[in-house]
Amino acid sequence: MSDLLVLDDVSVDYGPSPALVDVTLRVAEGGIVSLLGGNASGKSTTMKTVLGLVRPVRGRVLYDGQDITRWSTPRRIAAGIASVPEARRVFGDMTVEDNLLAGAYVRRDRFVRRTLDEIYDFFPRLAERRGQRAGTMSGGEQQMLAFGRALMSRPRLICMDEPTMGLAPVVVERVLERISTINSELGVSVFMVEQNAELALSIADRGYVLRTGSIAVEGTAAELLTNPSVREAYLGRTVTTDAGEVEPEGIADAAPDDRAKGSHE
Ligand SMILES: Nc1ncnc2c1ncn2[C@@H]1O[C@H](COP(=O)(O)OP(=O)(O)OP(=O)(O)O)[C@@H](O)[C@H]1O
Ligand SMILES: [Mg+2]
Repeated sequence: MSDLLVLDDVSVDYGPSPALVDVTLRVAEGGIVSLLGGNASGKSTTMKTVLGLVRPVRGRVLYDGQDITRWSTPRRIAAGIASVPEARRVFGDMTVEDNLLAGAYVRRDRFVRRTLDEIYDFFPRLAERRGQRAGTMSGGEQQMLAFGRALMSRPRLICMDEPTMGLAPVVVERVLERISTINSELGVSVFMVEQNAELALSIADRGYVLRTGSIAVEGTAAELLTNPSVREAYLGRTVTTDAGEVEPEGIADAAPDDRAKGSHE
């Protein structure tokens, strides 16, 4: 399979401090790639680099064979890169439908309504709720809306930053199933940051692990699942609880569900 997205030796600095150091990674056309890593390891920065929200100081971002390193974010979206941002960021005061239409803002064609109908077929729940204010929906429904909004730009690649954060375990499973069908049925490639390594790798083809801004491990999903340093990187992770406390490391025996950043839907 050809590479749809390549980060080629990318470094990003925030002022004097390096956030990414010589990161090289690939997302194959049609693939699902999971980006793992502990707190502050540079996962969101990597996503923002793909979307053009931060600029690398070195290295290149290639999309569909083109060097897009200097492209603006709207140009990238128009070219087929969509974003499901951290914490969903739906427009709470707007209706479901207006949220979806906002996702089509870069389109200049006349077929936005047709895409809207396709999204409603794919997410019947959003069709039922088209007139409802987005902020009144459950976390799981808002996540589906964030997916629908991203799909409105008819992307070839969707970048997702922690799409299951704060959702109850049963909802997490539904969201991951959706990501899988967005990939298999709609043919969209997926690049996702996910806190739950086991679940993320259960739907991914490949994965990368970031450690303090560098790729520490990469491989197929099956390889990563059995890699001791991946398990260690995950199970030693600090956790921010709902109360905002930071638990110390040393929760190696905790089940994956207990490591979620929250459990409310
Ligand atoms: N706008 C910014 N200005 C300065 N430093 C930043 C900025 N954004 C992120 N950083 C720093 O860059 C590093 C990587 O941050 P990033 O958000 O990419 O990590 P992350 O892996 O997504 O973390 P988390 O698990 O908390 O989501 C951190 O040390 C963070 O404090
Ligand atoms: Mg992050």
